[in-house]
Amino acid sequence: MKLCFAPMDWITNWATRYITEKIFDNHKEKEDTLQTWTEFMNADWFVINPWWVAKHLLTIKTNRKPIAQLFWWRKENLIKAASLLIENFWESFSWIELNTWCPSNTVMKCWWGSDMLKHRPETLEIIKELSKRIKGSWLSFSVKSRAGLNDEDKDEQLNFLIEVSKHTDFISIHWRTLKQLYSWEADFWFIKKVKEGSLCPIIANWGITEYQQALELSKDFDWVMIGQWAIWNPRIFTNYTPTLNEKIDVMKEHLKLMITTEFRFEKYIKVMEWYSFNQPNIEELHSLEKTINPDQAYHSIVEFRKYAFQYLKWIPCSREIRQWILQKKTYNEMLEILSLLTTK
Ligand SMILES: Cc1cc2nc3c(=O)[nH]c(=O)nc-3n(C[C@H](O)[C@H](O)[C@H](O)COP(=O)(O)O)c2cc1C
Repeated sequence: MKLCFAPMDWITNWATRYITEKIFDNHKEKEDTLQTWTEFMNADWFVINPWWVAKHLLTIKTNRKPIAQLFWWRKENLIKAASLLIENFWESFSWIELNTWCPSNTVMKCWWGSDMLKHRPETLEIIKELSKRIKGSWLSFSVKSRAGLNDEDKDEQLNFLIEVSKHTDFISIHWRTLKQLYSWEADFWFIKKVKEGSLCPIIANWGITEYQQALELSKDFDWVMIGQWAIWNPRIFTNYTPTLNEKIDVMKEHLKLMITTEFRFEKYIKVMEWYSFNQPNIEELHSLEKTINPDQAYHSIVEFRKYAFQYLKWIPCSREIRQWILQKKTYNEMLEILSLLTTK
């Protein structure tokens, strides 16, 4: 089965991707593959001041190349951002994706995300232009979308996606309408119609909570994408059941990776040259572990708390431990808490 780890802004990043890939490679079923994504990056900001958004492009070098996702405001900046990615990050990414999915009001106010579905003729023109630019390079091109704006809009969205499929290498579809946001059942009739009419492969994405469910869906669709349930269970892409200590080890590794990439990124931020930087490899990040000051407060530790809470959904622990995590700021303090969870 072809599995996909969905992009999730503020959640997925170089560390979550690396950890999920590592677990996958250790425990995967023989036939399975895993594709990862970067979260949507604002094309305008990237063109104007790449350092505002360049963190989205940070990725740890592995055998796999994530798909880089863009959204936009000005069409010329979207094309320019795609060109910059092609020229400077072709070694880091395999694919460039346009996001017509995002339901956030702030995003939509500016004509981005799902709002593009309110302007389908213009959006299709943009997709065609982008497709020409990207597919003329060594990267591939995809579009992420949803089941339309609301139930009444589904027929139009179906025709739109079929048209889009003539210009893309695949389409990922989150099967809810804009009106549904994250709630309600998926409309399988709609999805099957898209699959029947589409000229390119379809990634199915909606509320998958376990590996077996993904396996079932993979009978009908080309690729299967999992988002939220992979945050607290990065093993969802495998059939493997970990021990408690293995779960804690993943938390520790995640914490370390966040701190070392913080060091690495801070260092490179000062020397970024013309829209490009060298991606770190894992050995380089391991070598930075020596420089972690166990008693210093790091930004990454505060940021790690949100991941810790997700992981703890899957680990028995008391309310006090959750409360303590909120107060921890240093590496040592966080390790002490994690050790309390470990079985001897
Ligand atoms: C917090 C959050 C941030 C997201 N950010 C992105 C994003 O940057 N790009 C994108 O294409 N989808 C984004 N998504 C949507 C997910 O990729 C996925 O389509 C959605 O969560 C449905 O899959 P799931 O039911 O398996 O979670 C986001 C979802 C969440 C919950």
